[in-house]
Amino acid sequence: MPEATFHFPRGFLWGTATAAYQVEGGNTNNNWTAWEQQPGRVQLGHKAGQACEWWNGRWREDFDRAAEGGQNAHRLSVEWSRIQPAPDRWDEDALDHYRQMLQGLHERGLQPMVTLHHFTDPLWLTEQGGWERPGVVPLFERFVEKVVEALREYVELWVPINEPNVYAVSGYVTGEFPPGRHNLDIAARVAANMLKGHAAAYRAIHRLQPQAMVGAAVNYRDFLPARSWSPLDRLVTGQLYSSFNDSFIECLASGRFKMAAKRQRIPEAKGAQDFVGVNYYTREYVAFSLGHANELFARRFFRPEAELSSNGMLANEPAGFYRTLQRATRYKLPIFVTENGVEDAEDRLRPRYLAEHIHQMWHAVNFNWPVRGYFHWTLVDNFEWERGWTQRFGLWELDVETQARRKRPSANLYQAICTENGLSTEMVRQYAPQIAADMFPG
Ligand code: IFM
Repeated sequence: MPEATFHFPRGFLWGTATAAYQVEGGNTNNNWTAWEQQPGRVQLGHKAGQACEWWNGRWREDFDRAAEGGQNAHRLSVEWSRIQPAPDRWDEDALDHYRQMLQGLHERGLQPMVTLHHFTDPLWLTEQGGWERPGVVPLFERFVEKVVEALREYVELWVPINEPNVYAVSGYVTGEFPPGRHNLDIAARVAANMLKGHAAAYRAIHRLQPQAMVGAAVNYRDFLPARSWSPLDRLVTGQLYSSFNDSFIECLASGRFKMAAKRQRIPEAKGAQDFVGVNYYTREYVAFSLGHANELFARRFFRPEAELSSNGMLANEPAGFYRTLQRATRYKLPIFVTENGVEDAEDRLRPRYLAEHIHQMWHAVNFNWPVRGYFHWTLVDNFEWERGWTQRFGLWELDVETQARRKRPSANLYQAICTENGLSTEMVRQYAPQIAADMFPG
């Protein structure tokens, strides 16, 4: 087996990604806190509770872990309901808290990327109809202005809205997120309002901070037709791909929004992105099915022989990551992998998943595709939305009761990758020996 290292360009960003509600703890004023109280909404009745206690100061020790792990960047989000607890009230202490955290990142050599909206809405906004109503756009714009004025000294990379496609589909089609609706028309309206919110945020950020870079982080799921010879499978796969993966980003490129049969012009969205944020986890195969009318006639499943994560939520499909990065190149903008990871409490699959995905990203970089950084989801196990604490995505394991952290082997592998700015034969041999011969043939 040859000794080799797959190197990344100098200045490549290596980090982990987190979100406020999932790590901070003590958030009580948003739609997810209310959702958690309703029976049956979150698996096993789990609650975010104190989460990873970042709001109580444990961000310090976790940022130390990230820095000691060789990382040079971190993506986090700010919680709207803390900063604006009521429509007519700003909480300067909360902003100061975030200022300290961002300063803490810089002190440790970690470049921040800040997300302004990551799934949660203040309760007062939900009471006004949330993202279903156009009135949300100026409210979000005002919030963004307030945050950027306060934090711009520390941040150059901004993501206005995380995974707008997941927010719209999970909240308004599958009903797994609040408000638990099943209505494609409303989902499309919500997505369109998020595009307008993103566009308003983009311009507000650039007004206040011309040199900033702003991009959307979209959840890309790679979809392939179950039977490539079947025109119907190909048709529904294409429709699903464009509705779920492309609709948001395409509109930022063209100003035209298209989700399922819905069409709308949103001219202000055109050109409102400086980079493409890719959140990639898995691939699914798609077959035409009359029984799935409310899912665009698409029956989705994992490749039967694919290796699955602990709870069967994700299949390890690194080739889908490569295809996704290729897709993202069509916008001719820098690309950041804003999330990638796997739920795996035992760390059985993660080392291999990590090595194989980094390997695919290395191929992309070697075709000169402009991939500028990678944020692994996530640093420490955190609250996984409707799946509560049942799914563990952390490089570090968390005991929620005691708040003790324990390093998983993958954290050592990721540390080696970040420190080397590359992936070597030795690393793969040590952490994922079963794939070493395939990855380094000869
Ligand atoms: O935990 C989530 C995150 O909030 C958004 N992207 C997917 C992650 C894993 O499911």
